[in-house]
Amino acid sequence: MNLSNNTILLTGGATGIGLALAQRFAQAGSQVIICGRRADKLQEARQRVPGLHFYECDLAQAASRAELASRVVADFPALNVLVNNAGIQNRFQLADLPADLAAWEQQRQEIAINLEAPIHLAALLLPHLRQQREPVIINVSSGLAFAPMAAAPIYSATKAALHSFTLSLRRQLADTGVRVLEIVPPGVNTDLGGPGLHTWAVPVDDFADSIVARLAAGEEEVGYGTSESIRQGSRADIDARFKQMNG
Ligand SMILES: NC(=O)c1ccc[n+]([C@@H]2O[C@H](COP(=O)([O-])OP(=O)(O)OC[C@H]3O[C@@H](n4cnc5c(N)ncnc54)[C@H](OP(=O)(O)O)[C@@H]3O)[C@@H](O)[C@H]2O)c1
Repeated sequence: MNLSNNTILLTGGATGIGLALAQRFAQAGSQVIICGRRADKLQEARQRVPGLHFYECDLAQAASRAELASRVVADFPALNVLVNNAGIQNRFQLADLPADLAAWEQQRQEIAINLEAPIHLAALLLPHLRQQREPVIINVSSGLAFAPMAAAPIYSATKAALHSFTLSLRRQLADTGVRVLEIVPPGVNTDLGGPGLHTWAVPVDDFADSIVARLAAGEEEVGYGTSESIRQGSRADIDARFKQMNG
C-alpha cells in the first residue's frame, strides 16, 4: 500500500491503535479523517496530529454510519481508503446475564460496532472508492479471530466473522482494483475493554511501526508477535493457544 497522498477515513482513530495509525499515515503524507463518540478524545487527537479532521458519530447506529459516509464523501471527494478500526470488547459469562431485552441490547451493541459497522461502511463507501485511484479497505480484526478468548465470547466471534468477511470481500473485489487488507493485532497496550486491562500487552507504538512498515511493503494480512504466529498456525497450534489462554 502506498502510504502517501491518500485520503483516509479511519474509524475510532482518537485513541489507541487508531490514533497510532492516524499519526503514521499523516506523517507519511496522507489526509486522515477519524470518527468516534467522545468529543474530548477527538479534540485531543487533533492536537496531536496536525491536519487531522474528525466527525463525532456512533457507529453502532446504521443511520449514523450512513450520515458519516455521505458527509465524508461530500467533504473529502478524494477519499480512497477506509480503515475499519473502531471496536469495543466486553467480558462476561453468558450464563450470568439477565435474559431480558435490555441485556440483549447491550450484547447486540458489540456485534453492531465490531461487525455490522465495518460491513456497512464498506458497502456504503464501495461505489465511491471504486472510482478513486489506489482504493483500499483495511479491516482491524484480532488474534482472537483465530483462537477465541472465552471471557470475551461475542468480541472473539465478531473478530472471527470480520476475518472471514475480509477474505470474501478481497476475493469479490479482486478484479476491481480495490485492495482489501487486514490488520490482526495481538494484545496491545490500549484502553480496549476498559483502562488497565491491557497493560501487560505490547506497546502500541512498536506494534504500529511494524504494521505500517509491512503495509507499505505490500502485505495483505499483517499480525505482530503472538497474532502473527496464530494467524498462520495449524489446527494444533490454535488448539494449544486456546488452551493456554483459557486455562
Ligand atoms: N488493544 C488490543 O489488545 C487489541 C487486540 C486486538 C484487536 N484490537 C482491535 O483494535 C481496534 C482498536 O482498539 P484499541 O485497542 O485501539 O482500543 P481503543 O483505544 O478503545 O479504541 C477503540 C476506538 O473505537 C472507538 N469506538 C468504539 N465504539 C464506537 C462507536 N460506537 N462509534 C464510533 N467509534 C467507536 C472509540 O472511541 P469512542 O469510545 O470515543 O467512541 C475508540 O477511539 C479495535 O477494533 C480492537 O478490537 C485491539
